[in-house]
Amino acid sequence: METLRLGLAGFGTVGSGLAKILQENGEIIRARTGRSIAIKTVLVRDLAKKRAVDLGPDVRFTASPDDLVNDPDIDVVVELMGGIDTAKGLITRALSSGKHVVTANKHLLALHGPELSALAAARGLGLFYEASVAGGIPIVQTLRESLGANRIERLVGIMNGTANYILSEMTTSHLDFATALKQAQDLGYAEADPTYDIEGLDTAHKLVVLIRLAYGRDFPLSSVPVRGITQVTPLDIELAREFGYRIKLLAQAREVDGRIEASVQPTLVKYTFLLARVGGNFNAVRVEGNAVGPIMLHGQGAGDLPTGSAVMADIMAICRGLAVPGWRFDNTGFGNRPLAQADILPSDEAVSMHYFRFAVADRPGVMASIAHAMAEHGISIAQAVQKGDMSATDVPIVFLTHNARAKAVAETIREIDAMSFTVRPTVHFPIL
Ligand code: NAP
Ligand code: HSE
Repeated sequence: METLRLGLAGFGTVGSGLAKILQENGEIIRARTGRSIAIKTVLVRDLAKKRAVDLGPDVRFTASPDDLVNDPDIDVVVELMGGIDTAKGLITRALSSGKHVVTANKHLLALHGPELSALAAARGLGLFYEASVAGGIPIVQTLRESLGANRIERLVGIMNGTANYILSEMTTSHLDFATALKQAQDLGYAEADPTYDIEGLDTAHKLVVLIRLAYGRDFPLSSVPVRGITQVTPLDIELAREFGYRIKLLAQAREVDGRIEASVQPTLVKYTFLLARVGGNFNAVRVEGNAVGPIMLHGQGAGDLPTGSAVMADIMAICRGLAVPGWRFDNTGFGNRPLAQADILPSDEAVSMHYFRFAVADRPGVMASIAHAMAEHGISIAQAVQKGDMSATDVPIVFLTHNARAKAVAETIREIDAMSFTVRPTVHFPIL
């Protein structure tokens, strides 16, 4: 039986998860692929560090990328280091040396995916990245292959396990933000720099990867409007709950008259919707295809084994391709053709229902002035409530609206925040 030899770049959370799966499920993997899969060399930064998994004496640890890219025995380089420059250099060199590549690095793909795909295609090699979006959920293969016959009308996802863990813990266990973040880090969900998780950037990286697969268009990362969860307070979580909503960090993309609208922002989701029930490190992606209708994938979006499972699936896909003489890997789902840039719907044209929380002095006429400003901008109120009493220095007034254009929302907030009764800036989130 032939052996596929891996050069593993990175042996942290995901790299260890991959190794555990190989040790535990090697027999199943062999039966499915008809090959043995073996880790030959592992690239790390710190050769003295104690490792979570013992790979045995035959596996060599190195701190030099050359030991992966220059080794003719290595068939696949598996990049699980993260970061941009070193990872990009390694992948470029690996592809140039005729090695297939598997990566979980969504940040790198969001910035340089098309360039790396083009290099892989030119060499007839596989560049696989199932683990880069939503951890263990097979959304990349689903969009690239299973839903390939559909025009994708809409895509909505909870795609960051750390942010979802924090919001879930703040909602159900009333943990404070910092404690929940620390727990997510200890569980291995967070990025090396957790700012990416909590500020929505990691979700935006994943959204850009999915837009390419769904629409065959490149949507520049810098064009995605992004808001993170640091703006979500326990008060907003509680007020949303009273109205029957949960707050989730949602990535959304849809096609509107040939233009693509995309965003990442905390969003109120009706508690009866499946997306509102997605808790902990779980992710979910809901896709609406014009033929299949709506489908939803749900599973763990971060962690060693779920992510390792997706990495291993990619390695197995390479095995299947190698079994077919002359097989050309399609890394993009669009026959490796270069992707044109998306025609982008400007974010101030986006339309949705909204949650507003005004922090205002409790005095006569305030509610009426707010309602008047909203009416002036064509925003129709669906529900309103005032909390607190007149002894407080300021009270929250919450309005839920019918559909409103983002530009009208921004102008209304600007106007109300300049009014004398407004004590603190208005908080607002869209409603799904
Ligand atoms: P991690 O636990 O921090 O592990 C990173 C590994 O890469 C470590 O073994 C580290 O070596 C090695 N490394 C980093 N920079 C290196 C360099 N310049 N040269 C050599 N080795 C280097 O990271 P992780 O959580 O496994 O994440 C790895 C990748 O998977 C990232 O792209 C991440 O975004 C992605 N991802 C992670 C998850 C998750 O749940 N954690 C899920 C999906 C995708 P040392 O051990 O010696 O420090
Ligand atoms: N830090 C990421 C998350 C890892 O929390 O979802 C999975 O991509």
